[in-house]
Amino acid sequence: MSEGPSTDPRRVVVFASGGGSNFQSLLDRFSDPAGSARIVGLIASRETAGAVDRAQRFGVPAAVTPVGSAEEEATFLLDALERWRGELIVLAGYLRLIPEEVVKAFLGRIINIHPALLPSFGGKGMYGSRVHEAVLSAGVRLSGATVHFVDEAYDRGPIIAQWPVPVRSDDVPQTLAARVLETEHALLPTVVEALATDRVSLDADGRVCWTEEWFEADRFQVGDSGCFGLVDKREQK
Ligand code: GAR
Repeated sequence: MSEGPSTDPRRVVVFASGGGSNFQSLLDRFSDPAGSARIVGLIASRETAGAVDRAQRFGVPAAVTPVGSAEEEATFLLDALERWRGELIVLAGYLRLIPEEVVKAFLGRIINIHPALLPSFGGKGMYGSRVHEAVLSAGVRLSGATVHFVDEAYDRGPIIAQWPVPVRSDDVPQTLAARVLETEHALLPTVVEALATDRVSLDADGRVCWTEEWFEADRFQVGDSGCFGLVDKREQK
């Protein structure tokens, strides 16, 4: 029998706008109550998001972001996070910009997954098939998945982990998206695990620091500990 962690599981709130396959990968990975993390809530940017159905099926409380002022949105999100006692936020295909108050309150505890190798092919409007269309148009030979800490801009904060996915000559956006998504489903839970077990953190200079060897899964052992990133990207506007 495996021993559980000495601390309670970290309480994770997932934000999603789409079908929620990344949300599902987190529900699957963190279904063990003795695990390092537990999914305690879902914020969806629209009621029809497939992620909402998944939350219902798994008995995870869900709330839909209201349409209103940035201030109302921030209050709503912070209230939900407090109600669920959320400790970590994971953006899993969430298409709204996170209000500054929420970013500040969760700095170093809020992450996003993006279906390309940032800092390329990211930013406002770069989501879903648009990302893969841009990758194919540029003729790059590698795409991939990136998980990064969230700051006030779309797809910009310090990069935590990346994994490459080859582009094939016969790829169309859908085939490339499917191949990248498969990687996302492995990478995102792995990073959440690392965050929940304090193996990775954001330091005061905005660098990403890994305390030990990277990941437990073979394919993600890109093997180095220490801190990455020299510039505090939060200072850039
Ligand atoms: C994922 O590919 C995720 O990386 C992307 O949205 C998709 C959501 O799929 N996010 C972005 O493009 C953010 N810029 P899912 O709903 O099946 O998890």
